[in-house]
Amino acid sequence: MRILFLTHAFNSLTQRLFVELQHYGHEISVEFDINDEVALEAVVLYRPDLIIAPFLKRAIPEAVWRRYVCLVVHPGVRGDRGPSALDWAILNQEKRWGVTVLQANAEMDAGDIWAYSEFDMREAGKASLYRNEITEAAAEAVLLAVSRFQSGNFRPHAQDPSDPEVRGERRPLMHQSERAIDWNRDDTETVLRKIRSADGFPGVRDSLFGRELFLYDARPEKSLHGKAGEVIARCGGAICRATTDGALWIGHLRNKQYAHPFKLPATMLLASDVEELPEIMPKQDSGYQDIWYEEKGLVGYLHFPFYNGAMGTQQCQRLRQAYIEACQQSTRIIVLMGGPDYWSNGMHLNLIEAADSPADESWRNINALDDLALAIIHTDSHLTIAALQGNAGAGGVFLARAADEVWVREGVILNPHYKDMGNLYGSEYWTYLLPRYAGAENAESIIQARLPMGSHEAQTLGLVNEVLDNDVQSFVRAVKQRADSMAAVSDFSSRLEYKRKRRLADEIQKPLQDYREQELERMQLNFYGFDPSYHVARYNFVYKLPRSRTPMTIARHRRTDERLRRVI
Ligand code: COA
Repeated sequence: MRILFLTHAFNSLTQRLFVELQHYGHEISVEFDINDEVALEAVVLYRPDLIIAPFLKRAIPEAVWRRYVCLVVHPGVRGDRGPSALDWAILNQEKRWGVTVLQANAEMDAGDIWAYSEFDMREAGKASLYRNEITEAAAEAVLLAVSRFQSGNFRPHAQDPSDPEVRGERRPLMHQSERAIDWNRDDTETVLRKIRSADGFPGVRDSLFGRELFLYDARPEKSLHGKAGEVIARCGGAICRATTDGALWIGHLRNKQYAHPFKLPATMLLASDVEELPEIMPKQDSGYQDIWYEEKGLVGYLHFPFYNGAMGTQQCQRLRQAYIEACQQSTRIIVLMGGPDYWSNGMHLNLIEAADSPADESWRNINALDDLALAIIHTDSHLTIAALQGNAGAGGVFLARAADEVWVREGVILNPHYKDMGNLYGSEYWTYLLPRYAGAENAESIIQARLPMGSHEAQTLGLVNEVLDNDVQSFVRAVKQRADSMAAVSDFSSRLEYKRKRRLADEIQKPLQDYREQELERMQLNFYGFDPSYHVARYNFVYKLPRSRTPMTIARHRRTDERLRRVI
């Protein structure tokens, strides 16, 4: 079928549906929901069989839903209505939540139900639930709805509030007052819940040191205490704030009045106000840990759940140090675990944007990423595995490919390209790694396509070695089992020997240093050259400026060649 996506943005959920539906043989074209006129134009140009709205912030124009079946993906259980579905579910401590696929009609979220899927709620932030449980449930429900539509004989069910199974209700947009923190009354769990209901957008508005700030990235603290509301410690980029019964860490803040009004590490925004606070060294039961190592038998696991998968210069340097220490242990395998939401999204664009010289900071950041990639590629004491629980984008994908094996969770989406960031050339030794694992031809098409890729396609192209179970917990279990068996093989030393020889042969053919210099020469032009595209694209990304049109890579209906193909 020809399916048109009408969506506010090509976000992770939209990308996942794009990949899934294409996998089942459907042709997808995407139009950003800019205004009614643009939406109507897209419909006329594409003449789709079906319209899907994976992520919409406005109603679909009547002229569209009257003529076409439009399926809206609502991140709520049956009967739920309103723009803050997941925010309310978290704040109200719902035990089970879901996704409903509804047919658009005159009233928002009130249409007939084509499919739904439910899941157990997890204690996590809104964005994390959206990227994991909501995305999985949406994929399941949309595939079911599409197959029902295709069958031609399914009649969607009207929403029936008297049905005891229909638990949802209409809820308004959640305002700041509904999640405002009362530091003198709220316990840790309540504060966590309030911050999580607004993470990553819009954040909870609060005040600190006389400034109005938005709070994100909250994690419980297990041992520190203090006077409720007071900031009592710091750890890396995070601050620790006491509650009535303990304390919690806040990793990121946003200050709308600041010169850089986007999310930044808390200590960076509060600067001198928190300078004198005691610095806590992160341990398992205390502090804000963004890198940790655990060992089980012959396998070492390095975790690095950086917020939004963004890796700044210092984070890369600290991770490289932790990696080098892991290599000194008497284990056989190192598994690079990333985090449950993202494995890595490459350079930290917010920190770069906030730097005195974004060009210099870009240069430092890419070099720190390259140093980390180099340490992984050079490892001859261990076999290495990148285990992707969550998505990876841009340099993050190539950093993963620096490991000997890349194992991914089935639902993971990869964006193995840099060009969308103002034609950034990219580094992380991708010019070596991509042809080596994917072959020259595939390497070229991957880089040029600028499209998200599902796990199976990535495996076919050689970007990924193994696709494992689809929920995060069973993926982690499967990774551990496989890594154990890999470490236990009797010919382990000959595998290591083979790896050393292969690296040596590659090095003789073309030294890694040459790849790096050639890549960085192009990056230098991106950062310091006459063409400002990278700086403009980064600014637009960090400031979240809405796109004025849909990129041609995904708007097939706007490509002249596609239109001709259909006429012929
Ligand atoms: N640096 C800083 N923040 C980043 C980031 C990066 N490299 N990549 C993603 N983020 C942030 C986004 O700003 C967003 O922040 P929010 O919490 O305020 O909403 C959040 O992570 C999620 O990103 P989003 O784009 O909404 O997620 P997605 O899953 O829909 O898309 C990507 C994933 C990777 C396609 C997209 O985030 C992207 O293009 N990132 C930039 C990658 C890049 O060019 N890196 C630099 C070159 S190495």
